[in-house]
Amino acid sequence: MSIQTITTQPISGQRPGTSGLRKKVTVFQQAHYLENFVQSVFDTLGDVAGKTLVVGGDGRYHNREAIQVILRMAAAHGYAKVLVGQGGVLSTPAVSCVIRKHGAAGGIVLSASHNPGGPDGDFGIKYNIANGGPAPESITEAIYARTEALTEYRISDAAAVDLNLLGTSTIEQTEIVVIDSVADYAELMQELFDFDAIRKLFGGGFRMCFDGMSAVSGPYAKAIIEGMLGAPSGTVINGEPLEDFGGLHPDPNPVNAAQLIEIMAADDAPDFGAASDGDGDRNMIVGRKFDVTPSDSLAVLAANATVAPGYRAGLKGIARSMPTSQASDRVAAALGIPSFETPTGWKFFGNLLDAGQATLCGEESYGTGSDHIREKDGLWAVLFWLNLLAATGKSVQELVGEHWARFGRNYYSRHDYEAVETKGANELMDSLRIKLATLQGADLGAYVVDFADDFEYTDPIDGSVSKKQGIRIVMTNGSRIVFRLSGTGTEGATLRVYLERYEADPELHHLPTQQALSALILIAEQVAGIEGWTGRARPTVTT
Ligand code: G6P
Ligand code: ZN
Repeated sequence: MSIQTITTQPISGQRPGTSGLRKKVTVFQQAHYLENFVQSVFDTLGDVAGKTLVVGGDGRYHNREAIQVILRMAAAHGYAKVLVGQGGVLSTPAVSCVIRKHGAAGGIVLSASHNPGGPDGDFGIKYNIANGGPAPESITEAIYARTEALTEYRISDAAAVDLNLLGTSTIEQTEIVVIDSVADYAELMQELFDFDAIRKLFGGGFRMCFDGMSAVSGPYAKAIIEGMLGAPSGTVINGEPLEDFGGLHPDPNPVNAAQLIEIMAADDAPDFGAASDGDGDRNMIVGRKFDVTPSDSLAVLAANATVAPGYRAGLKGIARSMPTSQASDRVAAALGIPSFETPTGWKFFGNLLDAGQATLCGEESYGTGSDHIREKDGLWAVLFWLNLLAATGKSVQELVGEHWARFGRNYYSRHDYEAVETKGANELMDSLRIKLATLQGADLGAYVVDFADDFEYTDPIDGSVSKKQGIRIVMTNGSRIVFRLSGTGTEGATLRVYLERYEADPELHHLPTQQALSALILIAEQVAGIEGWTGRARPTVTT
């Protein structure tokens, strides 16, 4: 066994996006592609000798091969120890949990989250820092700069490690420890939530359906919900992780989790439905014939957080990404705690969480989490809801309805125009930017524009500035239209249009969402000229 230095050349386009470097599997299968990126990570980190690294992925196609390469490269760089999930599998929240619990210097997550997997699907790689969260932009940009100048990488020529067997082996001087994928994470959940109360809930005949979407969270949900909490077996559906997620799109929203939505719409539907995504960090919450928007889920959890033992002391603050609805701001105001508005991307919450300024965070893109780790956490949100349902004895619909009655309802929807031509999408955004000044104060029929801008964020902790984070048109009554281009797609561009309308009157809280938003939808189309720039008369996905 020896360490090899391999000559390579920069490969263009290795710039991490909203959540790491995501490309087609076939791109990652090119010679030196993964190695170049991993070497650039290690070069950016500097001296890693004697440190601990965590490695795991969502089990998608190419996961095992990639992990073997990373283990051999980590060994060539002198890590003292690498903790790797059994079978190469760790959910994204579990990676964050393991990094923090074991005091690791960082971790590598292999995932393309909710993007489809399989030989023709997507793959991805992301570096997380010692706090357990995604590396900040300063690091990801330095990694990118390094990929552009790379001439060689170092890798051990050791044989593959058996990832199925728990225990320790060595590559060069590095200990490779294959750990149980679920244990550390399950222990943390048990500290945060009232498992006794939830066990009683299930004992009393409460029925739930958790859709693992043939992705990573199945084993976690089975071990915790069916195992520790005593839900009947069969509560978790699609609980076996598959390399191609069964050919489906493991994104927990009403469109892609159609099976769950159908189950929850039946007359004999279970009391509670939930789903998680490819790598286990997203969640969708569903009641009987009733979907909860991620923005409302954050607000409801925030308003009721003290029911859970881990949050009994109350919240320090609530953070949400800019396009997420303002429902949680109202809760923060009522609780007398600060609310923060950050750019899209979980990494922007890291500083606020580390500084103890925020306890709960959420994004409209089906992401919710807290300061227990530094990633959003799908199963955590589901357990939080279970704790809330157990503590109140109310249904999902009752809880949300009562929340609206108290705080008002922020009607909310996101319209996605997927895989449109990049050129047209960029031109649409540029032309909107030019229009911003003229929109100020504009009378748009039912709405008058209060202000319109391109969202810019100054991190309150480290002062770093992120520009061009989405165009907002904010109306005088707080309703909003936001335009952004997705930072996670792998094909062309995806235009996201976020629509939000506040309604205080409880008599008007039960309109169909698209109907409630129809005037804003029309304004969005007209102001941005969506069809003209994208050639699309309607969105591909509406959530
Ligand atoms: C990932 C990130 C989230 C982000 C979401 C949507 O899940 O972790 O923080 O909100 O992608 O990002 P996009 O740029 O595609 O809107
Ligand atoms: Zn994800």
